[in-house]
Amino acid sequence: MSAPALDWGVLGTGWIAERFIGSVRRHTRQRFTAVASRDAARAEEFAVRHGVTRAYGSYAELVADDEVDVVYVATEHTAHLAGARLALEAGKHVLVEKPLGLNAGQAAEIAELAAERGLFCAEALWTFFLPRFDVVRQVLGSGLLGEVRSVLADLGEYFDPAGGHRILRADLAGGPLLDLGTYPVSLATWVLGTPDTVQASGVAHPAGVNGQVGAVLSTARGDQAVVHTTLFSDTPTTAVIAGTKGTLTLPGPFYQPGDVVFTPAGGGTPLTYTEPHIGHDGLHFEAAEVARRVGDGHLETPLRPLADSVATLRVLDGIRRRCGIVFPGEPAPAA
Ligand SMILES: NC(=O)c1ccc[n+]([C@@H]2O[C@H](COP(=O)([O-])OP(=O)(O)OC[C@H]3O[C@@H](n4cnc5c(N)ncnc54)[C@H](OP(=O)(O)O)[C@@H]3O)[C@@H](O)[C@H]2O)c1
Repeated sequence: MSAPALDWGVLGTGWIAERFIGSVRRHTRQRFTAVASRDAARAEEFAVRHGVTRAYGSYAELVADDEVDVVYVATEHTAHLAGARLALEAGKHVLVEKPLGLNAGQAAEIAELAAERGLFCAEALWTFFLPRFDVVRQVLGSGLLGEVRSVLADLGEYFDPAGGHRILRADLAGGPLLDLGTYPVSLATWVLGTPDTVQASGVAHPAGVNGQVGAVLSTARGDQAVVHTTLFSDTPTTAVIAGTKGTLTLPGPFYQPGDVVFTPAGGGTPLTYTEPHIGHDGLHFEAAEVARRVGDGHLETPLRPLADSVATLRVLDGIRRRCGIVFPGEPAPAA
């Protein structure tokens, strides 16, 4: 509530756009000034339903709106680069849904354009903006865990093959990696740094996308992360950060608001941090952080620096290379 009120424009009228607006409305003073869809009627219907002031039938019209301070790019993955570019070239600050781009090259292009134009840019990886992760950040910074040597994290969700969700569409960069796998991979690279080696094994989904992937990320000094993501089943979706002096467990779903449990090495009484398990109603934390940073004239947030967004995608690219997963517009792997 204390963050300065900005005028937001939203690109896209899908699942996350609805939840973001709902949460941000309930918990902050941010204003939703405009929404754009590729279809004018859809934009109008969405604007009426969510009380957004203006509706546009194209993304280009929205970024030309003088009243909009910051554009939230809430489109599917393959449209993030185009949406971010459009907004930045029109002089708007941007919050781009995760992942920042389809691959590290796209993400770096967005980061460079934002820096060049002197505009704020962040990836909407909401997990890193939650109070729960502020606690994790403090524990890691305090040295309480000793030397952190292992990270274990998974995120699996069953998708009905007949359900028609975009995650099952190869033309929209489907498969679990960008929607779900990005959470365990970003946690691992944040805690252990960029891995020196990436091993991975993938399994195809009958819909023609990747169905699940398991990967081992190792650093030169021998720290390891084991990450898994799947569309075939609901998995515990827990995360464990283990060090020589103690272990931090984030019960599932680890990427949403929830608990953090510290257990000293060799046993001892666990210490638990808890917060309301409010699911996607926690999306407002990222919006408030954007408003604070833009208000202070910053171009990035330390809670999710752009270099971290690019680093996560570099690891995801590495995992895909091991599994032969290619996204739309990318060159086919060498024979
Ligand atoms: N933070 C989270 O918890 C979370 C959760 C879910 C998704 N996400 C992220 O948010 C993004 C959107 O996901 P979503 O679940 O909201 O998807 P969605 O419901 O399918 O909505 C995506 C929107 O993208 C727009 N779009 C632009 N080009 C498109 C194209 N060629 N095909 C289809 N749609 C296109 C559409 O808006 P118009 O038709 O109105 O133009 C559509 O409504 C994804 O990148 C995802 O990773 C984040």
